[in-house]
Amino acid sequence: MNKIKRYYFKEIDSTNEFAKKISKETSQDILIVSEKQTAGKGRMGRSFHSPEGGIYMSLLLHPDTTKNPLDITVMASVAVSGAIESLLGVKAYIKWVNDIYVDNKKVCGILTEGSFNTEKKAFDYAVLGVGINLFRPKGGFPDDIKNIAGSLTETGKAGLKERLIDVFLENFFEIYNGGRDYMTEYKARSNVLGKNIEYIKNGIKYKAKAVDILNSGELLVETESGMQTLNSGEIKICTESIV
Ligand code: BTN
Repeated sequence: MNKIKRYYFKEIDSTNEFAKKISKETSQDILIVSEKQTAGKGRMGRSFHSPEGGIYMSLLLHPDTTKNPLDITVMASVAVSGAIESLLGVKAYIKWVNDIYVDNKKVCGILTEGSFNTEKKAFDYAVLGVGINLFRPKGGFPDDIKNIAGSLTETGKAGLKERLIDVFLENFFEIYNGGRDYMTEYKARSNVLGKNIEYIKNGIKYKAKAVDILNSGELLVETESGMQTLNSGEIKICTESIV
């Protein structure tokens, strides 16, 4: 079992928010896990539905100058999809940049936040938040996400949650410490490469084809007006061809 210091909660507002609070008091890497969240945060200011039965965890990290939140997000996507596959025996795909899909349903979301120190030109800390829909929530998913979200298994299975956290940590720290060619794995798991997509940049909607994922984690896309790289935001996979 990974030796990282851990905090466990039955309920918390958000494990990411807690990690940010304690970042001021520690220079240690710490894992925070909660059985549910009352104000789970998603990307782009959205909330993340966090009832009992899921895994809600944040890693407080102190990355060196070579890593940025996008790298950490990419590493975590590979680590979590590998852990899901090895423990649940299902194929897990990554929708750029950080959503994990099983059977065309989103089963995991990742939110990495960081505090950049302009003097040091590096991150003082990063918080990697991972939310996994492990067991089906009682009463199902709310209407606004029920067509998108899925869970990995029905119920029960003693010890599965703990095992999934441990295998994720093993995978993640192996990658984070430089022991794995994670970009090759990331691309192999992509459900976006070669697909027609839509995205919004500076308020304008573009149609494009996803061509490659660069080592920086950016998505290279071909639009009607040439190649562009995306480093954040959200893409939609579509069926209509444009280029
Ligand atoms: C997304 O899909 O938009 C990202 C969701 C990230 C959710 C996780 S759950 C643990 C951590 N704490 C939070 O408040 N959010 C992240």
